[in-house]
Amino acid sequence: MATSRDREGFLTLGGARLVDLVSDARVGTPAYVYDLDAISAEARELHAAFDGAAHLIAYAVKANSAGPIVRALAREGCGADVVSAAEMLVALACGVTPHAIVFSGVAKTDDEIDRAIGARIGAIQVESLEEIDRVDARARAASSRARIAVRINPGLDKGAIDTHAHIATGHDEAKFGIPEGQVAAAIERALSLPSIELAGVASHVGSQLATVDSYVGAARALFGVARAARERGATLAFVDTGGGFGIDYGDGQVARPGDFVRAVREHQRAYRLDDVALHIEPGRAMVGAHGVLVARVIQPKRTAPGRAWLMIDAGMNDLIRPALYQARHRIVSLAAPSHDEETFRVVGPVCESSDDFGEHEQLHGATHVAILDAGAYGYVMASCYNGRALPAEIFLRGGRVVASAARKSTEDWVDERISIVGE
Ligand code: LLP
Repeated sequence: MATSRDREGFLTLGGARLVDLVSDARVGTPAYVYDLDAISAEARELHAAFDGAAHLIAYAVKANSAGPIVRALAREGCGADVVSAAEMLVALACGVTPHAIVFSGVAKTDDEIDRAIGARIGAIQVESLEEIDRVDARARAASSRARIAVRINPGLDKGAIDTHAHIATGHDEAKFGIPEGQVAAAIERALSLPSIELAGVASHVGSQLATVDSYVGAARALFGVARAARERGATLAFVDTGGGFGIDYGDGQVARPGDFVRAVREHQRAYRLDDVALHIEPGRAMVGAHGVLVARVIQPKRTAPGRAWLMIDAGMNDLIRPALYQARHRIVSLAAPSHDEETFRVVGPVCESSDDFGEHEQLHGATHVAILDAGAYGYVMASCYNGRALPAEIFLRGGRVVASAARKSTEDWVDERISIVGE
């Protein structure tokens, strides 16, 4: 949570009073508001955790692909972890060095592989034996060489990964990565193909990890693979232990990103791999706490004593995390909180029972609310379901608005739908 209250009790983010920002009718609500200073500071803190060791912070663009954010992180020396050609093009356009881009994903199209080879990115992270051959074929067709990393699946026990089942990836039922039993064959294959340059090995165990344990477990498996690859003659430039660092959504302390790095660095030294760069792929931890979703209260609805809803103009189409992962985000009033004891179930306008942000207090009389910790996997997962336009976005630096995008217009959505003509 990166918000605070000013002397009159108004909610602020990055030094700006939120209610003033959204009163500007040109921007509208729902609106995501981000604090770029705090996002840049996350990057600096994380760089410092490496204590001078060679590293790359490949920001996972999927968490938030807004230009001002990717540019801010590129200026702090971050690279990018991308999962589509579109994300790669955003990273390149925002000034990320091609060499500092890694491209993950289980089902890259030929077009995406071609674009990645053409852009000379740091590594295409291959996730299957079949994909190694596909990348080789595309590189040969382009008379080029492709730099790849082999992404392993560390095969951890599903229940032991400290997160929601939907976002645990490092277990053997998941579609991600190359399983342990095929890793040796994958390394051999990569080393034998003339159009492939094996630059690294990678893994990603899951997201929203509260403790370092499963991350360290996966990193150790990966370091073992890196040592074995070297013994087979690979000259690795990096080992990539992935992203997944959790943030505190209000239910208690979680390890800081730097704690993950320091824990993994210790094992990297123990495996005598200090001469290769350590790559990480944090998404949520860079941006999650530094964005809020501001919504207008449409009306309360009271149907019986103790049964009160607060209808707001943001719904599951704007922030799907509660509906999809049973995630709980704190919700607070933009004006000074009320001390009335009434509890509201905060819901959106979408015609689904799962359009529900849970029960919250101190909202009596609120005209606007902020859904906290919405900087990651918020706007990027938004949709136009129910004919609802995509939300506005506002970017702050030094307490001032430095960039904004208005809420998309209702007419644009209508025009797009009715412009499909035929039968
Ligand atoms: N690297 C890879 C290969 C990934 O699959 C992911 C996330 C990341 C890095 C970044 O993970 P992070 O540091 O952000 O945890 N929509 C879900 C999260 C999905 C994460 C998918 N992969 C949510 O809202 O919780």
